[in-house]
Amino acid sequence: MTKEMLVQTKKGEKLRIRRMRFMDLVGVSNTVYDAFKNSKTWHWRFGGCSDRVSRILTVYLTLDSYVDPLKDMFVASTTTNKYAGMLAYKYVTPKQTPKPWWRQLIVWATMLLGALMFWILGAQQVRRRFEYNGVEYRKALVETGLLEKPNGYVHVDLLAVHVDEQHKGIAGILMDIAHDCARKHNVPSFLMASQAGFDMYVHMGYKHVSTAVLIDERTGDVVRNSPAMIWEPKDHPAVSK
Ligand SMILES: CC(C)(COP(=O)(O)OP(=O)(O)OC[C@H]1O[C@@H](n2cnc3c(N)ncnc32)[C@H](O)[C@@H]1OP(=O)(O)O)[C@@H](O)C(=O)NCCC(=O)NCCS
Repeated sequence: MTKEMLVQTKKGEKLRIRRMRFMDLVGVSNTVYDAFKNSKTWHWRFGGCSDRVSRILTVYLTLDSYVDPLKDMFVASTTTNKYAGMLAYKYVTPKQTPKPWWRQLIVWATMLLGALMFWILGAQQVRRRFEYNGVEYRKALVETGLLEKPNGYVHVDLLAVHVDEQHKGIAGILMDIAHDCARKHNVPSFLMASQAGFDMYVHMGYKHVSTAVLIDERTGDVVRNSPAMIWEPKDHPAVSK
């Protein structure tokens, strides 16, 4: 995508899409937190934390995504809402070009900051749950066979639309950016669907290919069966504009 894109929502409002900047961290995190806070998975991940602590940790997790050298993050703004939506995805290739030392230093510094924050906020359980969640999602990804694809795949990490801005087509417009990347490299797009997102992704042409089972370590109950989904560019060729 070029530096900035101007489109219209289904309701005819102007929508500006641009790359995320550092100063967007808190705004984007609030949109993400509010969009996900009622989901079963987020309830479990942040279980026992106050709203304030959960928001602070969400800012840290957004920062963690932001410093990932592979990740592209976008912000969608309407005239009334600067943080109407966000998308984070990465193009993962088996052969990654090594990153400069200073990028690696930023990643390590962010990890250190995270360790400190989780400790200060007394949120070690949240940290452990995110790690466990990451491992289970990784297993579901391995099962898809995508890690063996010579040309790689696009991984959609996070998509969120502000609760007041949903049903206007914003998620569809943001997902077009990730799908254009998948078409450009002729690789599949992969994601782990939330409960709110599953039917939408099916509508977009994603197929459920494997499942990550998240289990509450205290009760042994299944928190959620999270579907891993794949979209193939050959099934959705670009519509000439
Ligand atoms: C899921 C979410 C991103 C959808 O955002 P949105 O902006 O309301 O979605 P859109 O209006 O852009 O919908 C995109 C398309 O999917 C369709 N769609 C949306 N929800 C759907 C549903 N539940 N079932 C079937 N189709 C659906 C829309 O009709 C639209 O189709 P069209 O382009 O053919 O008209 C938003 O509800 C959200 O942020 N939820 C909480 C966070 C979350 O779960 N994110 C997904 C992470 S995996």
